Amino acid sequence: MLVLGIETSCDETGLALVEDGRRVLATQVASSLASHERYGGVVPEIASRAHVESFTYALEALLGDKSLPIDRIAVTYGPGLAGSLVVGMAAAKALSLAWNRELVGVNHLQAHLYAALMGDSSQPSLPSLDAPMIGLVISGGHTALVQMDGIRRYRLLGQTRDDAVGEAFDKVAKLLGLKFPGGPEIERVAQSGNPKAFRFSVPKIKGGTPYDSSLSGVKTAVLYKVQEELGAERSTLNADFVADLAASFQSSVIEEVVAKTFEACRAHRIPRLVVGGGVIANRLLRKRLQEIATDLKIDLAIPALSLCTDNGAMVAGLAAHLEPVEFSKLTTVPDLKVEDGWFPTRSS
Ligand code: KG4
Ligand code: ZN
Repeated sequence: MLVLGIETSCDETGLALVEDGRRVLATQVASSLASHERYGGVVPEIASRAHVESFTYALEALLGDKSLPIDRIAVTYGPGLAGSLVVGMAAAKALSLAWNRELVGVNHLQAHLYAALMGDSSQPSLPSLDAPMIGLVISGGHTALVQMDGIRRYRLLGQTRDDAVGEAFDKVAKLLGLKFPGGPEIERVAQSGNPKAFRFSVPKIKGGTPYDSSLSGVKTAVLYKVQEELGAERSTLNADFVADLAASFQSSVIEEVVAKTFEACRAHRIPRLVVGGGVIANRLLRKRLQEIATDLKIDLAIPALSLCTDNGAMVAGLAAHLEPVEFSKLTTVPDLKVEDGWFPTRSS
């Protein structure tokens, strides 16, 4: 089965062709990131306009002049920015109507997890799809730990109460005078820093589940350190200070996320872990996940770097396992939750 995946939930116009839900044949990603940089964050209006402008170019680049036997059109229907989601949805419906192809709605967060289960033609074997698995999705908008009882069944175990991990990286980077998006910048400057220079602890929170967490305290602690440093007759931050602070922040947050994740595997006696989302591109996080998984004999599925941040391949891949949707029933759901089921099927 050949699926065309469409992803426009934030600032990336992602398109891809995936065969049988697993093999990525071609991808195109057009990002409007550069246009948001001077605002220090994604501006929804700019992002949706950019999707409109990029879509047809990205589609042409993906398909070339080939006439491909596409079976399905898959599109992210949530969560994400309302104005961005509708562009992908309108395009998907138009293509499905024009080409007379099935339409499938995909949950963006579930697709981030599914990315770990995909491969390309260079890989000899693909990860198993056997459930149950523990799933960790960490992106700019969401941080959630789930139990996956199958590719279509998710139970929420815990989430961040305030900032998602990617959002915390972005905000701390801003405090340190680094550019947007902050995650890759923190990673870059942290390479020359000392992760033990500062101690940041992620507090236990009252109520909720043992897997819930809050990152606002760490963010405030970083702010105080920056203010202290600037208070000492400086107007700009010293590069060594920035590197040490970035390394300490990165290491504290990663150790906290990793500890909670493996605790979920232990407590639920599930030796399979699937991770996904933009922050999984972080090399220290990947290394720690791999080291601990090896120690604890946990089977870890981790996406290729190109499939961590938003892309159309993860959408097309997951769609091969879902039911096509009645055309008129599929709408965008900007506040869709990771555990929310797929859209009503033809028979429902
Ligand atoms: O999944 P994604 O592309 O978009 C959302 O669905 O939100 O994730 C984007 C997030 C941003 O917050 C970005 O700073 C973060 O992922 N990110 C990283 C890295 N690369 C991207 N965070 C830490 N280290 C990285 N290398
Ligand atoms: Zn995402």
